[in-house]
Amino acid sequence: MKLKKNRTILVTGGSKGIGRSICIDFLKNGENVVFTYRKKDNFSASLENIQSKYGGSILGIRCDSEKMGDLVKLKKSFKKKFKNLDVLINNVGDAIQRSKFENSTDKLWQRTLNLNLISTIRTSKIFLDLLKKTKNSCIINIGSIAGKNPGSADSLHYAVAKSALKNFTKGLAVELKNIRVNCIAPSIVETNFQTRLSSKKRLMRIIKTTPLKRIGKPDDVSNMVTFISSSKASYINGQIIYISGGRQ
Ligand SMILES: NC(=O)c1ccc[n+]([C@@H]2O[C@H](COP(=O)([O-])OP(=O)(O)OC[C@H]3O[C@@H](n4cnc5c(N)ncnc54)[C@H](OP(=O)(O)O)[C@@H]3O)[C@@H](O)[C@H]2O)c1
Repeated sequence: MKLKKNRTILVTGGSKGIGRSICIDFLKNGENVVFTYRKKDNFSASLENIQSKYGGSILGIRCDSEKMGDLVKLKKSFKKKFKNLDVLINNVGDAIQRSKFENSTDKLWQRTLNLNLISTIRTSKIFLDLLKKTKNSCIINIGSIAGKNPGSADSLHYAVAKSALKNFTKGLAVELKNIRVNCIAPSIVETNFQTRLSSKKRLMRIIKTTPLKRIGKPDDVSNMVTFISSSKASYINGQIIYISGGRQ
C-alpha cells in the first residue's frame, strides 16, 4: 500500500498494546510518530529506541490523558517540534474495572467517561488547528464493539462511553468536512487490557462465539488504522469499522 511519506502522527496511549502496534506500523512507513504514555517504563523507553530503516522519527511524551493540564502541555511540547499534524489517533481508553451497574460508583462512571470520551474530545479540540493546517488530515478514534453491544453485563460504564464515542465520530465528521473522522472498534484484542480484566475462561467463551475462533491481535487493528489514514481510504468518513472476527 503506497502512503504519503513523512507525515506527522500523534498516537495517545502508545507505549503498549494496540497503540504500540500502531506506532510501529507508522514508523515502518517512515512517518514521524509522537506517542503519549502515562508511566515512564521499559515499554515507553524501548519504543523510543526503535529505529526505522525507512526514515521518520519517534518521540514519546508523558501525558496523562485524564488531565486537561497534561493535554495542554502535550500540545506545547508537540509544537516545539512539529508545525502541523497529519493524523491524530485517539487510542487511550480503558474499562478500568468490571462492575455490575448496581455496584458501580460515581467515580467509576466519571473516570471511564473521562478516559474514553472526554479525553478524546479534548485532544481533538486542542489539536484541531494543527490538523486544519494540513491537507488530507484525519482523526481516528479507537472505539470498541462494546459501544455497539454492551453484552457482558459487567462493564456498562465502558459500553456507554464507547457508544458516545461513535456519535462523536459521526458528528465531528459532518462538522469538520475536510478532516476525515473515523472510529475503529475492535472486539477482544490480546493486550494488557484483557490480561487485567478477563479470565481465561471468559476469553475461551468469547472465542467460541467468534466466527473466526480466535481473539484479535494488536496488528489486526493497526493494519486498519494504517489503511484508514491513507489516501486509499480518502472517501471513508464518519464510519465505525468493526475489527471483530465476525463477532456481533
Ligand atoms: N484490548 C482489547 O480487547 C480492546 C478491545 C476493544 C477496544 N479496545 C480499546 O483499544 C484501546 C487501546 O487498548 P489496549 O488494549 O491497547 O490497552 P492497554 O494494553 O492497556 O494499553 C493502554 C496504553 O494506553 C496508555 N494509557 C492508559 N491510560 C492512559 C492515560 N490516562 N494517559 C495516557 N496514556 C494512557 C498506557 O500507558 P501506561 O501503561 O503508561 O498507562 C498504554 O500504553 C483503548 O481505547 C481500548 O478501550 C481494546
